[in-house]
Amino acid sequence: MNNILEAVKLTKSYNNQTILNDVDLQINQGEFLAIMGPSGSGKSTLLYNISGMDQPDSGQVKFRDENLTILNDQEMSQIRLKNMGFIFQHSYLLKNLSIRDNISLPGLKAGILSVEEVNEHTDNLLNMTGIRQVGGNDIKQVSGGQLQRAAICRALINQPTLLFGDEPTGALNQQATTEIMDIFNQINEDGTTVVIVTHDPNVAARASRIVYLVDGQIHAELNLGNYNSAEVQRVNREKQIYDWLENLGF
Ligand SMILES: Nc1ncnc2c1ncn2[C@@H]1O[C@H](COP(=O)(O)OP(=O)(O)OP(=O)(O)O)[C@@H](O)[C@H]1O
Ligand SMILES: [Mg+2]
Repeated sequence: MNNILEAVKLTKSYNNQTILNDVDLQINQGEFLAIMGPSGSGKSTLLYNISGMDQPDSGQVKFRDENLTILNDQEMSQIRLKNMGFIFQHSYLLKNLSIRDNISLPGLKAGILSVEEVNEHTDNLLNMTGIRQVGGNDIKQVSGGQLQRAAICRALINQPTLLFGDEPTGALNQQATTEIMDIFNQINEDGTTVVIVTHDPNVAARASRIVYLVDGQIHAELNLGNYNSAEVQRVNREKQIYDWLENLGF
């Protein structure tokens, strides 16, 4: 299979404390990867480093055949803007813009699509995620689930090949989580490679593979195969994950 992203011997320390310890990770084109692990194990740090939001101390991150670790900030932000979307646990939308304008902004900034195309794509994303009716609202005038959908739309405006999420459902209730994960699975089925950090085995059950981080190293890996929405299969996947975590001793 084709690697879209590859981390080779990534290391990162903060205050002389090793946070990422020689991490090797290959992510295949079209894959849906979930990163799990105890709090403080380095999950967010790993995600930031493989998405070019942060620079490792040593090692390489390759996007397709390009070595991201040698790029300067400006080159990196261009690659990110054009190829990658990022969703944070708390959506970080801009307060003085409407939901709609928040979504369009990175589209206009990237300059890949015309203004008309950005508008059309914004409409499509608002429809796909079911928040068309609140597009004109201020970000204070929507629910947590709607806000997170808006963050997904914003991350997708430039049709990224890679979508990253750091606990994208961490602030949501179960129903909103299910709805958001349905959107992630749809995006993944449409061809986008998805990488998320999550604590929630039910969320991880949507992924095709899970890696488990302990003390900045990949401690274990579980291959689940592609998610299929059939109920019986979902329960089996969740059970498989709970059993796996139990065997790992976490
Ligand atoms: N910018 C930073 N400066 C200093 N230390 C940091 C920084 N970012 C992370 N750390 C430290 O690195 C360790 C790993 O943090 P990280 O956020 O990657 O963990 P995590 O696995 O995502 O945890 P959680 O599940 O709680 O989100 C923590 O001990 C954290 O305090
Ligand atoms: Mg984290």
